[in-house]
Amino acid sequence: MQERIAELRAAGEAAVAAATTTDELEELRVAHLGRKAELPNLLRDVSKLEPAERGIVGKAANQARQALQAAIDARVAELKASELDAQLIADRVDITLPGKAEPVGGLHLLTRVRRDIEDIFLGLGFDIVEGPETETVHYNFDALNHAENHPARDRADTFYLAPSPHLDGDVQRLLRTHTSPMQVRHMERAEPPVAIVVPGRVYRPDSDATHTPQFHQVEGLWIDTDTTLADLKGVLLSFARAIFGPDREIRLRPHFFPFTEPSVEIDVSCHLCGGTGTLKDRSRCPLCKGTGWIEILGSGMVDPNVLAAVGRPEFDPEKVQGFAFGMGIERIAMLRYGLSDLRPLYENDVRLLEQYA
Ligand code: DAH
Repeated sequence: MQERIAELRAAGEAAVAAATTTDELEELRVAHLGRKAELPNLLRDVSKLEPAERGIVGKAANQARQALQAAIDARVAELKASELDAQLIADRVDITLPGKAEPVGGLHLLTRVRRDIEDIFLGLGFDIVEGPETETVHYNFDALNHAENHPARDRADTFYLAPSPHLDGDVQRLLRTHTSPMQVRHMERAEPPVAIVVPGRVYRPDSDATHTPQFHQVEGLWIDTDTTLADLKGVLLSFARAIFGPDREIRLRPHFFPFTEPSVEIDVSCHLCGGTGTLKDRSRCPLCKGTGWIEILGSGMVDPNVLAAVGRPEFDPEKVQGFAFGMGIERIAMLRYGLSDLRPLYENDVRLLEQYA
C-alpha cells in the first residue's frame, strides 16, 4: 500500500508541475484530493491492515496528501502571479492616446486664427506682447506721425472717450483704432533688436458685412541696425505661405501710411484659383475677383519720425531701422474660410461656431 501511496503522490506532483492554469490546478485538486479521489480513500482501508502497519501507512498517506496540497498551493500562487502579470499587460492602458470622448466645445474661429498667426511669428523669432485698448491720442496718432488733419482722427472715425480728470487730467483718451500704438510703447521700454507681434482688439465706428465696430488686428515690428525691405518681404512671404499654403507668392504695392516710409500693401496670390483669376470651370474667381491677388495687410519701413517719437538714444533713427506691418484677424479668417459676412462670428449661434469647431 505504501508503494501505491508513493505512486499516487508522484503522479499527483507530476501533474501539478505540468499544470499551466489555476483552473487546471483546481481540477487536479478535486481529482487527487477530493472526496472521490483514491488517496484520501486509502485511509478508509487502513483498518484492514496489520496493526503494526496501520500507523506507518496512515502517516505516509497523510504526508502524501499534505505534500500534494502544498504543491498545489505553491503552484497556484505562482500561476496567479503570472496570470496577473499577463492580465496587466493585456489590459494595459496607454494614457498617452487621445481620448475618444465627443468634444464638448471648441475654440472660436477668431481665436484659432489668432493663435495660428501667433504660432507662425513665434516660429520666425518674434515675441508676443499686448497693449491697452484705451489709448491716448499721443500713442494712437501723434507718435505715429499722423498729420493734425489726418482723416482717421475725425470724431466719425474714432471712438473718443469722455475725459476722466481723475485718471489723467485733460489727456484725451480713445478706444485704439489699431494695434500700431504698441510700436512706440514697446520701444519705450525695450532694447533693440526688437521683433514683436501685438494681437488685440481695436475699435472703429464701422458696421457692415465686412466690418464690425470691434475687431482684431495683429501688429508686427522688427527693428535692428540693418533690417531692410528685403527682410520685410521674406518674413511676410513666409507668413503668407504658412497661413494660405506653400504655393503662395506675394507682391508689394506702393501705398501710404503715416508711420511707414516707404509704405506698401501686401497682396497674396489667390489660394482659391491658384493666382490665375479663373476657376476650373473657367468662371471668374469670386475671392480675388478675377485679379489673382488678394490684399492681406499693410506694411512698410518704420518712418524715422516714429523712431524719433520714442525719444531714446537706443532707437535713434540714425542708428536703427526696421519694418512694421498690421493685419486684420477677421480679414485673414474670412479669406481663409471663404466667409462673406463677418457678423455671424459675433452672434454666438452655436450652429455656426460648430462648423469650425
Ligand atoms: N495700422 C494700420 C491700419 O489699421 C495697419 C498697418 C499698416 C500697420 C502699415 C502697420 C503698417 O504697422 O506698417 O490700417
